[in-house]
Amino acid sequence: MKQTEFKRRRHELMKMMGKNAIAILPSASLVTRNRDADYPFRQDSDFLYLTGFNEPDAVMVLVPGRKFGEYILFCREKDPAQETWHGRRAGQEGAIEDYAADDSFPIDDLDDILPGLIEGNDSIFNIMGVYPEFDQRLIGWVNHIKAQSRAGVHVPSGFVSLDYVLHDMRLFKSRAELKLMRKAASISANAHQKAMKSCVPGRYEFQIAAEFDYEFRTNNAQHAYSAIVGGGANGCILHYTENSDELIDGDLVLIDAGCEVEGYASDITRTFPVNGKYSKAQREIYEIVLAAQKAAIKKVRPGNHWNDPHNAAVRVVTRGLIEIKLLKGSLAKLIKEKAYQKFYMHRTGHWLGLDVHDVGDYKVGDQWRLLEAGMVLTIEPGIYIPAHSKAVHRKWWDIGIRIEDDVLVTRTGCEVLTEAVPKKPDEIEALMGAQLA
Ligand code: GLY
Ligand code: MN
Ligand code: MN
Repeated sequence: MKQTEFKRRRHELMKMMGKNAIAILPSASLVTRNRDADYPFRQDSDFLYLTGFNEPDAVMVLVPGRKFGEYILFCREKDPAQETWHGRRAGQEGAIEDYAADDSFPIDDLDDILPGLIEGNDSIFNIMGVYPEFDQRLIGWVNHIKAQSRAGVHVPSGFVSLDYVLHDMRLFKSRAELKLMRKAASISANAHQKAMKSCVPGRYEFQIAAEFDYEFRTNNAQHAYSAIVGGGANGCILHYTENSDELIDGDLVLIDAGCEVEGYASDITRTFPVNGKYSKAQREIYEIVLAAQKAAIKKVRPGNHWNDPHNAAVRVVTRGLIEIKLLKGSLAKLIKEKAYQKFYMHRTGHWLGLDVHDVGDYKVGDQWRLLEAGMVLTIEPGIYIPAHSKAVHRKWWDIGIRIEDDVLVTRTGCEVLTEAVPKKPDEIEALMGAQLA
């Protein structure tokens, strides 16, 4: 992503903030995994969106109209000894030269410098509740300024929710963002196809998961979330991530895995037979989910409500469950009573972007949001029938099926970014069979 893109975003945000305002946003911090080992660093998505700066221990400050520079980046100082042990740092020079900051100070000087930048402004744009320790420090700085008010120091009159403006900006993807999302979608799509081809009874879920690790890392991408590889009964556990069991002949395997590229996520689910051939019962349920997904995708177009795809999926799932006698009653009544939730207990999708469950409101007031060009969402209906489900014939037991694609709202309808992964049963069987032959 080019620096000009981050600059454009900061300008857009500052335009909305107006004068006499300051925005303050901390980066993510390193998180301890165990003893002195850390998890791999992942930058805060809001911070990444506005700065492109991928180091911990940094704070972005925007002061629209400030004479000596509107964009100030606090970050770690260069330190040859620390960098020998822990890796390179941009330092203050790098912040200015490589990340287009107007000014940069050492993060250790935050207490000395930030109160001076805050005072004189009317409002402080920030995000409360994500980093409670930082929130406390910010309140401390403001109180410090308040204590000086009798000396004529101008105290900001209040905090303004930065998320409100920023998350709406993030909801609409630019051309540069879509390029990265297409790349993530394409890498993930390839990985899913490889996983299908590599699946045979007797392999373990973690071995199939390793196909994704390899494919993602080979393409300089990371997992956007913990991969789910659930065979048989595990496919009915929505957030199954142990990925520890053997894959059994005759079972299905549900794989929900997607990578991120420069922070931009993809999110794909496919469900296929471990032995390469759907049983009659598996195929019947699969066809319902596939028809529900198709109906939902058809509803993704500008002007439709956020909830239209979900309503369409619910309708097809409920009708299908009536046809195979897993639900009894009239379609309208079963939908009204949400009877389908016994087998379809989640919603049909979510926004997708720098976070897999991306930011952005789903409602405006009490109305579902209208879909607009540039939004990206997932469409992921499913049916899950755990063993011993009450009043359910055992032929349906342990069938857990979800089909998930990433969909861009275009000016005239939509584009499925992840359509390269087959999802028709015959196509999946052909792909798996080609490998077995
Ligand atoms: N992979 C997370 C989800 O599908 O929402
Ligand atoms: Mn999803
Ligand atoms: Mn998913």
